Amino acid sequence: MELEPYLELPDPREAVEQMQIYSAPLEGRRELLRLDFNENTVGPSPLVAEAIKNIPANNISIYPEYHGLKEAIANNLNSRMKSSTKIEQLQIGVFNGVDAAIHAIFHAYGNIRDRLLTTTPTFGYYNPCAQMQGMETIAFPYEGREFRFPYERITDALHKYKPKLLLICNPNNPTGTRLKAEKIISLSKISPKTLIVIDELYEAFTGDSLLPLVDFNKTPNLLVLRSLSKTSGLAGLRIGFAIGHTIVINRLNRVTGPYDINSFAVTAALAALQDQAYVDKYVSEVLQAKEWIEGQLLSQKIRHHIGGGNYFLIWPKRNTKDITTAMKSQGILVRSMNGKALIDKSIRVSIGTTDQMKRFLHTFNEVDKIVT
Ligand SMILES: Cc1ncc(COP(=O)(O)O)c(C=O)c1O
Repeated sequence: MELEPYLELPDPREAVEQMQIYSAPLEGRRELLRLDFNENTVGPSPLVAEAIKNIPANNISIYPEYHGLKEAIANNLNSRMKSSTKIEQLQIGVFNGVDAAIHAIFHAYGNIRDRLLTTTPTFGYYNPCAQMQGMETIAFPYEGREFRFPYERITDALHKYKPKLLLICNPNNPTGTRLKAEKIISLSKISPKTLIVIDELYEAFTGDSLLPLVDFNKTPNLLVLRSLSKTSGLAGLRIGFAIGHTIVINRLNRVTGPYDINSFAVTAALAALQDQAYVDKYVSEVLQAKEWIEGQLLSQKIRHHIGGGNYFLIWPKRNTKDITTAMKSQGILVRSMNGKALIDKSIRVSIGTTDQMKRFLHTFNEVDKIVT
């Protein structure tokens, strides 16, 4: 947009001037089968809807209260870990989605010209956060046809640059690449001044969490991110956690507003955390569907890649723009990965229930025909 020539504008920071708005195609999705954002495809636990329905109107005019929330998160995490080290409430930070946690990490730790070390292709919000701080990003590609984690190169870069931040998405969105917790602990020893952030948004589908193995009091440069968006189905309410050393969490809290998580999200989170059985059932349904779709893709010889996570990549015969448009006209949303390093010309498909995968595959086979 052009400014009238007689007007002047205040200058934003130089780093912001260089950026683009982070945009995601989020509109008009409600009535469609949404396999484009790796969301829960069946909705949250009925306890969540019930709890929200019961919020008295009066509560809407009061600032949110967080009493009991961290206790519920700690109990939920600890009850699922067979580990002697327990997560303490002070080791938990609560954010308006993990996106806000990522933003806070960069805000708290990223000075201008500091380095972010990460991988490519990976979750799209790390890089804009580095850009807004004026940081330099070093991103190593996943390796080979299986998109293996570039462990040697990350190790060397940790030795060489001692970057301010290392961001690892585990399993990685969108390649599904998994990295063992033991290997992450080894990385953490190389450069103690590097904050290593493990984005475990899709951990429920692999069980590879770092949490049972890490003692943040001994390894304070590790930080784990978890969200209620995907498995618990609360993406619309925005609530995510960071789990790490108390001092790291304290620094993240310093750059977070006092009421950034709204009271609907708090109520929903408390209900969702109580109903772990619902989440477990959904995860096992997704894992069954994953096995089914993998079998089909193999037997139909459709080029694909499935790793950890509730998503996979598929390379259509037609171009991705035509495919996503044609799929949408049939009521199914999938995400084009066009232009992304290593996975250009693929589409990412979220895994829901087996019935949803059947519908996806049937439609995909219908639309992915080269018309001659
Ligand atoms: C790897 C990864 N991290 C973080 C997020 C953001 O999660 P939230 O909805 O909690 O902000 C996403 C969302 O797609 C993601 O895929």
